[in-house]
This record gives sequence, structure tokens and C-alpha cells, in this order.
Amino acid sequence: MSTATTPIRAANRVHRFTYAIRQVVAEAKKVEATGMTVRYLNIGDPNAFGFVTPPHLIEAVARAMRDGHNGYTASAGILPAREAAAADFSARGVEVSPDRVLITSGTSEGIELALTALVDEGDDVLVPSPTYPLYTAVLAKIGATPVYYRTDPSRGWLPDLDHMARAVTAKTRALVLIDPNNPTGAIYPEALRRQLIDFALTRGLVILADEVYGDLGFDGPVPPMAALAPDAPIISYSSLSKAYLAPGWRAGWMAVGATPRLDEALAAIKKLADGRLCSPGPMQYAVTAALTGDRSHQVAFRKELKLRSDLTVARFNAMPGMNVVAPQAAFYAMPQVALPPGRTDEDFVLGLLRARGILVVHGSGFGLPADGGYFRVVFLASPAELASIYDDVADFAREFAQA
Ligand SMILES: Cc1ncc(COP(=O)(O)O)c(C=O)c1O
Repeated sequence: MSTATTPIRAANRVHRFTYAIRQVVAEAKKVEATGMTVRYLNIGDPNAFGFVTPPHLIEAVARAMRDGHNGYTASAGILPAREAAAADFSARGVEVSPDRVLITSGTSEGIELALTALVDEGDDVLVPSPTYPLYTAVLAKIGATPVYYRTDPSRGWLPDLDHMARAVTAKTRALVLIDPNNPTGAIYPEALRRQLIDFALTRGLVILADEVYGDLGFDGPVPPMAALAPDAPIISYSSLSKAYLAPGWRAGWMAVGATPRLDEALAAIKKLADGRLCSPGPMQYAVTAALTGDRSHQVAFRKELKLRSDLTVARFNAMPGMNVVAPQAAFYAMPQVALPPGRTDEDFVLGLLRARGILVVHGSGFGLPADGGYFRVVFLASPAELASIYDDVADFAREFAQA
């Protein structure tokens, strides 16, 4: 029985909730408290590494505030932002009307709205392994089960359709596709994308297409999944966080595919969106500015990313006992270290943090087996800084192999 002094208990669902990319920071803070400098390669935030938000977006937000747009907006977002997102999809080959677009507090909120609207407690959702942890975290809150499908490092981290077919059950409701991918940097070829859409269609699954890195393919923007199948039940996501260099603004958009099969889902998502009133108002004006204005910053950003990716791949593949698949997009790589018997990926990551002050994230934080030896590196730091960090990783890897 509780008394006036009993600690207030957290809900059970919190015990199954994890978010490795942020939770490793607590370990890093302990290391910092000992006086060691920590270099943070755990979070994909370009602004933390000197990349700056395009000035016309900042001006759009500042102007919106000065012009008094500081009240609540419609739950789905302001019409000009929804129109801009719909026009942007249309320019990329996806016809969708503004009333099927919602402006959200980043892709994160859009994913949470859709999963909450579509997935019941006890249902399954197909999630890639490795995955960005948002999906497993939201499903933990809902009480639904993430069922991992394998992506294959020996084939450039592409989804393994046979494994996916074995993973699907009568309770599976949705298929999560992260393309371009975090944490692997993979881009899926068109033929495979068509197979994935067919897979979802024949099994009655909705596809959640996480395309936050869609404009960060090293060779240019990657077309949205929905462009291949206008009638398929696909919900597409993007945001200002990555390709527009404004992650702290929490501004994103989602488009619910034009098929009537998604009408009930759209209504459910809008109903839930009413319950959080709206996403931050002034930032919605930046969505309009981003999707209708100059994007030349992306050309420069993609070039910088490719430079860093090449450096990362060359350095890791030259380290004894280490290998990495070359990313095609975004700012992540997933190297693999040969683990001594009985050691885990987390042992390597914590060892690297404590010995050299370098923070990366263990592959098991993304759903990979702990004995696989994978870890994720964010390669947004300057090439000179990355080169020095990789020297230290190589030194530590030698010590780790011998310990
Ligand atoms: C694959 C993926 N999806 C979603 C997000 C979250 O994006 P947002 O800032 O738009 O919520 C991230 C952030 O790192 C991501 O990597």
C-alpha cells in the first residue's frame, strides 16, 4: 500500500521503452565528469557540427513571429505549408491533395500518430533490423510488438524479402521502410522497392515510408517510395530536421496516400492530431519556405557528406578486424568490429568511450544481435576531426582485440 512517503512509481510501459542513441549520453556524462573530453558521434544533428540552417528559413520563422502568427494553428497545420508539401510530392511524382497532408512536430510525431491510429495493443509491425529506435520506442508505448526483418550487410544492407515473408503474421499491420536508411546509409534500388510494395499489397499492410533522408542521397534526391505505386497504401514522411538543417524546430510533414483504402486511417490520424492541438506554429511557415524556396544548400551539404563518407569507409576498412559497408546517403555508417569471444558490441562501445572519450552507439541499440560487433558512427564532424577520431578508434580496436 502506498503511503505519504512511498516513491511514486513509473508505469510498466516505461521499462520496455529504450532509446539507445540518447541513453548512451548518460554514460558519456559520467566520463566527462572525470575530466575527459568526449567527442559525440551518437546523434545525427548537423547543427551540432557547424552546418547552419538556411537563412531564408530563419527569416520565415522570425517573420511569422513578428507578424503575430503565435497562436494555435489548425491541427493538420497551416494551409500554405500543406499546399507546399502536396506540391513538392507532386513534383516528385506523387499526386496527393493538401487535405491528406499533416504538418507534424517532426517525423517522430507523424510516426507516433500513424502507429497509434493504426496499430492495436498486441498487433505486430515489421521493422528493419537495424532500425532507427523511434519505431520500437513508439510500439513499446502502444503495447504492440516490433517484428524485425533482416537487412543484409553482405548485400549493402538491403531488406531480405524471404526473411520478411517468414516474419509476417496474422497480426502484422504495417511495414516500416527507412529509405534512405539510418543507421546503414543504404538506398534501396527501384526493383527491390517494387517488390517491397508488392509484398505489402498482397498482405494488406500499410507502408510507413520514412524518407527524412530523401534529399541526402550522395548522388542527389531519392524519389519517394509512393511515386512507384500511387494507389498503394503508403504514408510518406519527411521533415526540416536533416535536409533543411533545422532539427530543433520539430517541423515535419506526412502525406497519407491518395487511395480510398487509407481514408479511415487518415480520419483516425486527424482525430488523434486534434488531441495535440497543433505542431509549433511559426515553424510551419518555414516548411512553406523550405519547400517553395532555394535548396542550393543541399547541393553543398551532399558534397560534404560524400567526402566524409569516403573518408569513413576508407579508414574503417583499413583497420584490422574492422569492415564497413559504404553508405549511399545521409551521415551514418555501421562498421563491424571482430569481437573477442564473449564480448558484446556494447563492451566495445563503452570501452571506446571510457578509454578514448569517443561516443558511438552499439548495434544492439538498433535491434542487431549484441554479438554481431556492429556500431553506428555519425560522420558529421570535419574531415580533419574525423581523421583524428578514427586514429583513436584504430588504437583502441587494437587494444580491445588483445584484451
Ligand atoms: C530514420 C529517421 N526517422 C526519423 C527521425 C526523426 O526525425 P524528426 O527530427 O523529423 O522527428 C530520424 C532522426 O534521426 C531518423 O534518422
